[in-house]
Amino acid sequence: MAKPTIVVMPGDGIGKIVTPEAVRVLDAAGFHANYVHGDIGWDFWIREGNPLPDRTIDLLRRHKLGLFGAITSKPKAQADAELTPELKGKGLSYFSPIVRMRQLFDLDICVRPCQTFPGNPLNFIRRKGDGFEEPKVDAVIFRQNTECLYSGVEWTDPPAPVRAALETHPKMAAYKKVAGKDLAVSCRIFTRTACRRIAQAAFEHAKRFGYKSVTVCEKPNVIRETSGMMEEEARKVAAEFPGIRLWATNIDAQMMWLTKNPEDYGVMVAGNMFGDIISDGFAGLVGGLGFACSANLGREVAVFEPTHGSAPKYAGLSPSIVNPIATILAGCMLLEHVGQTELAERIRGAVQQVVAEGKVRTYDMLRLAGGPKVFEQGAASTQQMTDAVIARL
Ligand code: IPM
Ligand code: MG
Repeated sequence: MAKPTIVVMPGDGIGKIVTPEAVRVLDAAGFHANYVHGDIGWDFWIREGNPLPDRTIDLLRRHKLGLFGAITSKPKAQADAELTPELKGKGLSYFSPIVRMRQLFDLDICVRPCQTFPGNPLNFIRRKGDGFEEPKVDAVIFRQNTECLYSGVEWTDPPAPVRAALETHPKMAAYKKVAGKDLAVSCRIFTRTACRRIAQAAFEHAKRFGYKSVTVCEKPNVIRETSGMMEEEARKVAAEFPGIRLWATNIDAQMMWLTKNPEDYGVMVAGNMFGDIISDGFAGLVGGLGFACSANLGREVAVFEPTHGSAPKYAGLSPSIVNPIATILAGCMLLEHVGQTELAERIRGAVQQVVAEGKVRTYDMLRLAGGPKVFEQGAASTQQMTDAVIARL
């Protein structure tokens, strides 16, 4: 296979800290790749009015593989205020560059594994008799990544033709008297093709890795059309996988069950918004965002990222305190995507060892409040954690 080129897009805040750490691990593991830098994030919004510049899009189009860090998003008024004076008043509006990237390249399949590392002090525990038990969580969330409430089709004060069209629906009678400026509408759009693809990807993963069930997690009892379509497609796909059971749950109940009996769940599948929620929910059971990684997979382009945000308040600390494991694990997903499963397993094994040994722990693993004092309290720095992983490769 030709040497792949990876577009490294650190983005904002701690994204700039954790992406180089993941690259350091990939290098140390002996992965042969070229790396090119891709601009993305808040700085480019301020200076260029575009947080995902065309040059970065071109790089992704060319190389097809991305490693992304994190981005900062701020509310509308603040985004407008921070724009460079020359760009103000030109009708530019901020839209999350990672969401745009997912939509632009149709990275419609988001895979978020949430698996317990034995010995992680952040693992979920459950009271049992006089003591506690620590069920092993092994869930993989398949999140539809481009549609749903992320469609971007939304208005405050919908234009007259939109309002008129909405009013053809009998349920709109309840809003008849609401003034336009007091009415906000965000469209939850599902397409059958995308529902089908995410359900198919979930079942294929379950089959390949021996999971006994796929749980489709929506809310079709109330959101009948969109959630209904997802569940309908999941049922059709399930018929093609006789050995794997399909469970259908509602998002609200699922959020309760995942803390009661998380070990019962294997592959989860959901639309974009509920997938976002449920993947953070499961991540919380296996160490939180310091351990949560994602793959955004399209037909051609794939981008890998830690699930966490840019944590601006920790970005300026030197040495850095944040946990690089999520991004290192995102690197493992990238390796698997390019067929380097052995390398991915080696890195994961090294992470597993570091976590199990318990000698090197970032502040989150020690449940400390983040800040420069964490080192006195026994926490390892970001770089020390990476070094520990590399030492065990
Ligand atoms: C995620 C994040 C993003 C999302 C944000 C940063 C736009 O929460 O990747 O889960 O909502 O998809
Ligand atoms: Mg999220």
